[in-house]
Amino acid sequence: MSLLFIAGSGTDIGKTYVTALLTRTLRAKGHDVHALKPVISGYDPTTMDTSDTALLLTAMDDAVDEHSIAAISPWRFAAPLAPNMAARIEDRTVDFNAIVSWCKAHSGPVMIEGVGGVMSPLSDDKTVLDWIVGLTCPVLLVGGTYLGAISHTLTALAALRARGVQVAGIVVSESEASIGLAETVDALKPFVTGVAVLALSRAGAPEQVRLDQVADLHAVALQCLAD
Ligand SMILES: Nc1ncnc2c1ncn2[C@@H]1O[C@H](COP(=O)(O)OP(=O)(O)OP(=O)(O)O)[C@@H](O)[C@H]1O
Ligand SMILES: [Mg+2]
Repeated sequence: MSLLFIAGSGTDIGKTYVTALLTRTLRAKGHDVHALKPVISGYDPTTMDTSDTALLLTAMDDAVDEHSIAAISPWRFAAPLAPNMAARIEDRTVDFNAIVSWCKAHSGPVMIEGVGGVMSPLSDDKTVLDWIVGLTCPVLLVGGTYLGAISHTLTALAALRARGVQVAGIVVSESEASIGLAETVDALKPFVTGVAVLALSRAGAPEQVRLDQVADLHAVALQCLAD
C-alpha cells in the first residue's frame, strides 16, 4: 500500500488542483499513479463534468460517467457541507470505518484527496485527521497565500504532528486574493522545520503547467508513493 493523502488547511484551497496536477504530470513521466476522491459533498450528477472527481478522472485520462465517478468517489453527497452534515440532510450517516477500509484496499501508488480542512468533520465523531491517522500514510498539506493563510497552515501542521502524522511537504498554492506567493513561503519557512515548503504559482489549468515547474513536487510525492 503506497498512499499519499492530499490534505488542506481549509476548503477551496487547491487540493483538487494539486492532486490533478500531480496525477497528470507523474503519469506523463510514466508513473502509474491513481487519484481518489473517496468522499465528495456538493455533488450534483447534472454537473458531474465539473466535479472534483471528474477533474481527477480527466487527469488519469479516464472517461467521466456515472460509473467512473462512483468508482473513485463512492461517498457522494448533494449539499455543499461537511460530509456528516450533508449526509444528515439525506437521512444517511457516514460510515467512517468503511471509508478507511475502502482506501486501504487500494494497493498501487494512490493519491487520496481529502475533504475540507484537516479538522473538518467527516462522520459525527471523526474528523479528516482521524481518517488520515486511520490510514497511517504521509500527507501533503496544501495551504494558500491569502491574508491569514500562514496561521491556518501552521495550525493544520500542528494538528497533524500532534497525532504523529508524517507531513511530507507543504504546498503553498497561490490564492486568488494573494498577499504574495514568495512572501508567504518566506514567512512560513522559519516556523517549519524538516518539511519541504513548495511554492505553486497560480498558473492556470493543471494542463498548462510544465513538467520542469513541478520537479520539487514530484520528488516529494514520489518519495511517499514509492514506499
Ligand atoms: N495553483 C493554482 N493555480 C491555478 N488555480 C488554482 C491553484 N490552486 C487552486 N486553484 C483554483 O482554485 C479553485 C479552488 O481549488 P480546488 O478546487 O483545487 O480546491 P479544493 O481544496 O480542492 O476545494 P474543495 O475543498 O472544494 O475540495 C479552483 O478553481 C482551482 O482551479
Ligand atoms: Mg477539491
